Amino acid sequence: MNESAGPYAGMAHAWAADATVVYGPLARHLIARLPAGQVRGALALDAGAGSGAAGDVLRERGASVVAADREFDMAAYAGTAGPAVTADVAALPLRSGLFDVAVAAFVINHLPDPVSGLSELRRVTRPGGVVLVSVFSDHRAAAKDTVDQVAEAHGFVRPSWYTDLQRHARAVGTTASLRHALAAAGFIESVVVEEHVDVGSLGAEALVRYRMGMPQLHTFAASLSAARRATFVAEAVAAAKARIKEQSEMTAERLLAMFVDAYDKAIEWKQSTGAVRAGEMIGKLTGLVSDRLRVEVEQKPSVAAAIEAGRQRVAMHRPLSQIIDSTAAEVSTVGGPGTSEPP
Ligand SMILES: C[S@@+](CC[C@H](N)C(=O)[O-])C[C@H]1O[C@@H](n2cnc3c(N)ncnc32)[C@H](O)[C@@H]1O
Repeated sequence: MNESAGPYAGMAHAWAADATVVYGPLARHLIARLPAGQVRGALALDAGAGSGAAGDVLRERGASVVAADREFDMAAYAGTAGPAVTADVAALPLRSGLFDVAVAAFVINHLPDPVSGLSELRRVTRPGGVVLVSVFSDHRAAAKDTVDQVAEAHGFVRPSWYTDLQRHARAVGTTASLRHALAAAGFIESVVVEEHVDVGSLGAEALVRYRMGMPQLHTFAASLSAARRATFVAEAVAAAKARIKEQSEMTAERLLAMFVDAYDKAIEWKQSTGAVRAGEMIGKLTGLVSDRLRVEVEQKPSVAAAIEAGRQRVAMHRPLSQIIDSTAAEVSTVGGPGTSEPP
């Protein structure tokens, strides 16, 4: 790392190989917000590009992409796919109004002054263009802490840049604070949403690999002897497995509670409206459960396991299983032919 380099210097290969297990799907999710007509043929900036996860998706969808990252090796890595520049997102050496689209995936949260970075993104984007930004939410996934805690037991101490990063991230970590920063940067129209993003089925090994692709843990792991590193990784994988299992069980309990709650509401609804079609009832149940799920569920692997566990529990909960069965049998009314009235 040279003197002016930041923590991500020299991280391009680790980022591309390990961190992208999670950052790849996150980038895909972000870019999916752009309608096809806004991407195809567009000139796009991937600011804070890292190894180019967002740029790759933009290119796949028909855009021409310029990558920018403050670390030379990140820009060089992203630059294998197209033009790239080593530059600070808060002082881009790029003409005003050049881009149709500017994307900044998880970089604004690095800045001590996020408004300066957002203003630069706005400056280099043409009037009527789109700036797409993602930042970490204040709601930190518990899975991250699981691996970090094992690292701490092995002597990992959070470097000061990392605690700074966490502080900077918190400054834009809610929808209200990000909206506020966007307004201060002169955006006239902004849509800010907080979402749980499904990054696919991450097993314990992949979870640890992703965490070890982060500069703070990558540098720490590299400082350990090979034997110590192997123990650290094995313990981290074991802790991640235990965490995933525990989360599945918790989620199964929550899912079951949601089904039961939704069932009660559906019965209330049936009583107030009289006989209803099974399809409508199922639609209503699904809506109730998925609204709750969207808010409560954090990780897909746990959801898949939880749904399985939940299903087994639900099968024991007779009234609800009747409603579920009645969809499969395409019976037109709940409590009609082929089903029995719930108690
Ligand atoms: C969390 S990584 C995200 C990388 C990539 N956008 C992705 O989603 O995989 C943050 C990246 O922002 C870069 N970065 C940090 N501060 C920056 C700044 N002030 N200007 C430009 N890039 C910066 C880092 O070098 C790193 O590559």
